[in-house]
Amino acid sequence: MNNTKNQPFSKLPSYTKLQDHHKKIENLHMRRLFSVDPQRFEKFSLQQGDLLLDYSKNRITQETMSLLCDLAREANLDQWREHMFSGEKINNTENRSVLHTALRNATDKPVYVDGNDVMPEVRAVIDKMQLFSRKVQSGEWKGFTGKAITDVVNIGIGGSDLGPRMVYEALTPYHYPNLQVHYVSNVDGAHIECALKRLDPETTLFIIASKTFTTQETLSNANVARGWLLDHMELDKKAIAKHFVAVSTNATRVKGFGIDLDNMFEFWDWVGGRYSLWSAIGLSIVIAVGADNFNKLLLGALEMDEHFQNAPCEENMPVIMAVLGIWYNNFFHAESYGILPYDDYLRSLPQYLEQADMESNGKSVDRYGNKVDYATGPIIWGTSGINGQHAFYQSLHQGTKMVPADFIVSMKTHTVFQEQHDIMISNVFAQTEALMRGRNLEETKANLQSTGRILEGGDASIPHMVFEGNHPSNTLLINKINPHSLGMLLALYEHKIFVQGIIWNLNSFDQWGVELGKQLAKRILNDIHQPYPATSHDSSTNALINYYHSMVDR
Ligand code: F6P
Repeated sequence: MNNTKNQPFSKLPSYTKLQDHHKKIENLHMRRLFSVDPQRFEKFSLQQGDLLLDYSKNRITQETMSLLCDLAREANLDQWREHMFSGEKINNTENRSVLHTALRNATDKPVYVDGNDVMPEVRAVIDKMQLFSRKVQSGEWKGFTGKAITDVVNIGIGGSDLGPRMVYEALTPYHYPNLQVHYVSNVDGAHIECALKRLDPETTLFIIASKTFTTQETLSNANVARGWLLDHMELDKKAIAKHFVAVSTNATRVKGFGIDLDNMFEFWDWVGGRYSLWSAIGLSIVIAVGADNFNKLLLGALEMDEHFQNAPCEENMPVIMAVLGIWYNNFFHAESYGILPYDDYLRSLPQYLEQADMESNGKSVDRYGNKVDYATGPIIWGTSGINGQHAFYQSLHQGTKMVPADFIVSMKTHTVFQEQHDIMISNVFAQTEALMRGRNLEETKANLQSTGRILEGGDASIPHMVFEGNHPSNTLLINKINPHSLGMLLALYEHKIFVQGIIWNLNSFDQWGVELGKQLAKRILNDIHQPYPATSHDSSTNALINYYHSMVDR
């Protein structure tokens, strides 16, 4: 383990300076900042490859950004970043390296874990994925009865589902026409039942995606799928080799499930589940969009990795986004953060980032096990922005909570509907302008006069039509959603999360918070299977189990 030792976040010298600075500018309206500085956009925007980040609509001055960059430096960001990229075991509670960046290392630089260069293994798995995918796409890979595969079902959950599913949707225009990929994650039987209903066992391939191969939901769904297949194949177990492949780090368990190890695509414990779409967990993506497009995705991520490693704080997109998040989280005490994609292909990005961010930084002890005395990762939420406008944006504009948010949209559409695209773009820009500027009382009255609008509620309605504004947002413009730009976008968020974890002094790469519920669920399942009433829990839990007992006919 390296010997970089951070002070607690709240003891960093810039923390106090930022507190003082916050007092000075908390009542400053962004309207004023824009009116006194016509260069504000030029000062607070940044282009990197396919991405343009406009962060001028934030409650910041140049002094804010320079203090925030000091904070990052005092948290030893440069050293920690180096530790991560060079394979040091920065995931200290699991004694693991954190090397999702090695998965997209298309350079000739070796990457060492315990003295061994992992790049040859990484490349071998990529080659195996490519070869297999080509066989499935071309129809060379046949099901047990000799028919080509038409449908692929990825069974996985969390990082073994959210990443590949989100990328599959985002790259819809790149899909192979004759193959459909389906994602099953929920242990509610309705999910797999609904998928299987539409499928033909003779032409279906299952990918069982699980890093540990012990996840209850995934294995339960995998068992259902295996049973369904065998029922249709006269219980001939030889069919499994033609219809099941596994993606995992756990060969013993994969074999135990009955999947041929030739059909296993390996990855390693130094790839975190929520950072794994770049690994063999991306097999469904490669099958759907082809090896060349998957490579472009990796190259996009590599471009962001290199930018993150080399750009100084003031020009470093992930660092800027990270410190802005900290500014609101820890100084304005914003509790949540909105992810608002306007590109329909990115509709699952908020869900993906919920896991990526909250499982990484939703922690209340620091890297060394000390309870923290400051807020860590915010609640990440969001949905397709345009739908949100007609649902929860009322609260963003006029509610009492501060919700900083990222508005994400691509400039060029894949469709022929340019007018629709213009409408959508106008909405993105209108929302961030409205959030920033607001509309004061005088403007509201003037607007009513100029439009001749008569208020049914009379003048008493006027205060309800005032917008305070001063709500911060980032606007992230993508040239066009394609594998390369998507790779950049996802790596941007990964590194943003990393930087925040470093500044908060967290281990962003474990997830002990998911353990307790898993353990209790096992115990409760056992109680549910007993013929006698449960008595060993609290009165609420006992009663719920026993009520369930009374309601279910077995
Ligand atoms: O329970 C949380 C978690 O461990 C996630 O971190 C992970 O992405 C998910 O479950 C799935 O785990 P696995 O890939 O091992 O099935």
